[in-house]
Amino acid sequence: MRSDLSQLTTLTHPLITHKLAILRDKDTSPAEFKATLSTLTALMSHHIFAHLNLRDVTITTPLEDMQTQKLLKAPVITSILRAGNGMADDLFTLLPEASMAHIGMQRDPETHEPVFYYEKYPTDIATRQNILVDPMLATGGSAIESASRLKKLGVTDIVFACLVAAPEGVAAFSAAHPDIPIITAALDRELNDSCYILPGLGDAGDRIFNT
Ligand code: PRP
Ligand code: URA
Repeated sequence: MRSDLSQLTTLTHPLITHKLAILRDKDTSPAEFKATLSTLTALMSHHIFAHLNLRDVTITTPLEDMQTQKLLKAPVITSILRAGNGMADDLFTLLPEASMAHIGMQRDPETHEPVFYYEKYPTDIATRQNILVDPMLATGGSAIESASRLKKLGVTDIVFACLVAAPEGVAAFSAAHPDIPIITAALDRELNDSCYILPGLGDAGDRIFNT
């Protein structure tokens, strides 16, 4: 499998590393986990939203007309359920003009393959930029299948954002979708025999939703 790390951006800001350390700690409570995930997503948002296309506009300030730029079209934020909601909700709060799409994926505990169970999209999704989010990129199966579903709908401009990526997941995703940039807060060491990321942060969905 081709390994292409060139499409990967790992955000190395001290605050991002600090917040991620809180998330990784097994003694962090579900309440603190959720609050810290929100802050971390906001810190990453500067980069996650950086590719958005703008158009030239003329606006009128209280003093005069000026040329500036606004969003060409609000993007679609696509959450890979469940854990994706932990990031998507916060991006949606920062950019309420966006739309939210949902793709339900549940990893099979034996095969670790993603099992699809739900999808809901805005009708004009094909014409809009897309930000696909899931905190964890482990084998890459869930993100690869989700991006493929978006492409089948006609979406052409996708960025994938996660918190923790495994090298195996980055390689698989890069091979399947070499056109999609990956933004992560950390590139971890490897997967264990159960396809959990090491050192990782555990099961993101369980920690966000206290299940
Ligand atoms: C987790 C995570 C990703 C997926 C990553 O979800 O949120 O969606 O696993 O693993 P992969 O890269 O090997 O596909 P999970 O299937 O546990 O579902 P959940 O979000 O409902 O907990
Ligand atoms: N899903 C998670 O939530 N965590 C992992 O480490 C791997 C998959």
